[in-house]
Amino acid sequence: MDTKADIHPPAQLIRQVEKAFKERFDGAPRLFSAPGRINIVGEHTDYSEGWVLPAAIDRFCVTAIRPNQSGAIRVLSLNHGEVSLPRQFERRGDWADYPAGVSAVLTTAGVDIPGCDVVIGSDVPEGAGVSSSAALEVSFAAALLGAAGHDATPFQIARWCQRAENDYVGMPCGIMDQYISAQGAAGHALQIDCRSLSHTAIEIPPGLAFLVIDSLVRHQLVDGGYAARRADCETAARTLGVTVLRDADIDMVTSGDLDERVRKRALHVVQENARVFETGDALRRNEPALAGDLMNQSHESLQTLFEVTCPETDALAAEARQLEGVYGARQMGGGFGGAVLALVDAPSAHTAQEEIVRRYESAAGVRTSGFVCRIAGGVRELSH
Ligand code: GLA
Repeated sequence: MDTKADIHPPAQLIRQVEKAFKERFDGAPRLFSAPGRINIVGEHTDYSEGWVLPAAIDRFCVTAIRPNQSGAIRVLSLNHGEVSLPRQFERRGDWADYPAGVSAVLTTAGVDIPGCDVVIGSDVPEGAGVSSSAALEVSFAAALLGAAGHDATPFQIARWCQRAENDYVGMPCGIMDQYISAQGAAGHALQIDCRSLSHTAIEIPPGLAFLVIDSLVRHQLVDGGYAARRADCETAARTLGVTVLRDADIDMVTSGDLDERVRKRALHVVQENARVFETGDALRRNEPALAGDLMNQSHESLQTLFEVTCPETDALAAEARQLEGVYGARQMGGGFGGAVLALVDAPSAHTAQEEIVRRYESAAGVRTSGFVCRIAGGVRELSH
């Protein structure tokens, strides 16, 4: 892996967005991009103020924007169609809630958003656990701020976008996805402390690669499974007498007066937090076998304790581990489907990708896709 060079959205995606803008609205827009992400380890820990280890990837949402004279915020998504965002938020229950929520949060924060024309294009797979929604929110927020002439740090953008998702989309997510999409660093994973909201960058050793394989099972995180897990974690913390599970340890969880389901959830969180540090250290020391093993443990914990995997992602992770050059594999993201992430020797990565796609097709009867990702930087304005 080339760990230093920064990575931009593909020229073809940028051209598509520019062409659509010209055809629909005319004129030359400003362009902003924000990446999707992988999460190496640290799943379902962010909303308990724990630790996570994500990295931004070379899959992007690109937003083109130009102020108009009409006062309306007209948004054309190449994947979903066109809407005119109401100035007063009204939940529609579809993709438009993301830009509408971002616009509502910025307005509440005092940003004076002008009428503008917007085109959004993205090559971040949707529903696959690689944060297509955070990429959309963050690139759209940066674009609106640019159009409004309002300066904001990437960190501030991340906070606003999380609020948009919590308060307007109705998904009680933590900060991980927006944080990494806004602040990712090329060639590095970020070990994020979700209490202090600070991070340490850890270089991904050259010679290692990450492979994302889509199970094609789609989650509906707004539909309750995610919120139920979060509620279990809050119950555990309350029962143990701590603010959040970040403040609990194994002894407290094993000896505390928790019901069995809640104890399992808490055990996952406490051990997963420890795995973030161990995996970060393993990467620093370039010990991929150990990092891979920790990823396998994370999957098992998500399967048996946190209970957010599904038979398809269990099978994919198990298959991936059999392949030459693969050190470990786990389901990634909110869960209930989505993608599996494998840590692999860079020279074996493309062969492993072809092989896992072939095996999944013969086992599940569907042709999936996989990609080897490069580790990108966070949100930015693109120059022409
Ligand atoms: C989703 C949420 C994140 C995080 C993960 C699980 O991606 O948006 O905040 O909770 O699930 O680790």
